[in-house]
Amino acid sequence: MNMADGAFSRSEIVGLVVRLSVVTAITYISIRCLMNQLDPTTKSKKKAKKKAQEHLRRLGMTENVSLAIDQLTDYEMMIASHLVDPNDITVSWEDIAGLENVIQELRETVILPIQRKDLFADSQLTQAPKGVLLHGPPGCGKTLIAKATAKEAGTRFINLDVSILTDKWYGESQKLASAVFTLAVKLQPCIIFIDEIDSFLRMRNTHDHEATAMMKAQFMSLWDGLITDPTCTVIIMGATNRPQDLDKAILRRMPATFHISMPNVAQRAQVLKLILEKEPMAEEVDIASLSIMTDGFSGSDLRELCRNASVYRVRDFVRHHAPAANASAGTSTDDEEYHDALRPITMEDLVISVHKMRDSKVHTGTLNAVKLDLD
Ligand SMILES: Nc1ncnc2c1ncn2[C@@H]1O[C@H](COP(=O)(O)OP(=O)(O)OP(=O)(O)O)[C@@H](O)[C@H]1O
Ligand SMILES: [Mg+2]
Repeated sequence: MNMADGAFSRSEIVGLVVRLSVVTAITYISIRCLMNQLDPTTKSKKKAKKKAQEHLRRLGMTENVSLAIDQLTDYEMMIASHLVDPNDITVSWEDIAGLENVIQELRETVILPIQRKDLFADSQLTQAPKGVLLHGPPGCGKTLIAKATAKEAGTRFINLDVSILTDKWYGESQKLASAVFTLAVKLQPCIIFIDEIDSFLRMRNTHDHEATAMMKAQFMSLWDGLITDPTCTVIIMGATNRPQDLDKAILRRMPATFHISMPNVAQRAQVLKLILEKEPMAEEVDIASLSIMTDGFSGSDLRELCRNASVYRVRDFVRHHAPAANASAGTSTDDEEYHDALRPITMEDLVISVHKMRDSKVHTGTLNAVKLDLD
């Protein structure tokens, strides 16, 4: 009886164990699913991981370097999704007019020491600076220079979007901030670009949110870690039009500063020439006198000026030929005729556009009214 009891309970126990393990497995799987559903960052992490893998694969293929994708943490993957592929960038040094001096200095002091490390190996002092700051008024080519650097430097380039660092979950921000540096060290030589850096690393004050203050402090100490390691070639490049808002400690970490100022007459002429080069333009257009007229205009204003002027010719065409153009729209031969019929940009278009822009600039306070009176 006892024996039978024992045998019975043994099989029962086995059944129980099996049932128990099945239930445990189901519970485990469903809790994992639930946790994944509840974790709000899973989706973005997965997406970032996919993007980063794609980026790294492309970079690895073009540069013949096998990057160990598996060695990166989730946080580093999130940052890696901001890697820039030089082939995707259309801006090169030739697309920047009038800033030859700045570009040459940037190439000689920052890019050359990275590319030709061997030339600079004998001295500690000739190492590339760990921080570069581009500052100057809006619309004068800071972001443009950074883009061209990404294309031409031949290093990895992380275009750091600071918004991904300010995660609302406690502790995530710090992990991401440190991942920026650990990833950059793994990928070196590497340039980390932070546009509008004043918004992220502005003057610290007592009103700062605790998490923000901690992230800034951590960023600075990690950056110092880079600075003290002489073998590591990671450069942080920042651009801002409010350098006075930057924290003093940050300014110290960016010893190489480049001021991109408002273009002068000669620079304006170069920018106008570059912009109008590929446009159909009447022969009478006098770039020299245009550049004198546009005192106080930034590079981006000049671009807008030319865009405006070239719209005038289309507008004129539509006004005079509207019925015909509408009737014949759709076929390719008519398209060609349409383009042939468009007159080139004339000096008059450009002058009207200058006056219009100057008026609006005076009203918006971006141009001094006194300058107008002088003309
Ligand atoms: N030196 C220049 N040569 C050619 N184009 C220029 C130049 N400077 C500015 N531009 C034109 O102006 C646009 C805006 O320039 P950019 O984005 O570099 O300005 P920014 O200095 O970064 O301004 P912000 O401080 O407002 O960000 C460019 O896309 C380009 O079309
Ligand atoms: Mg910019």
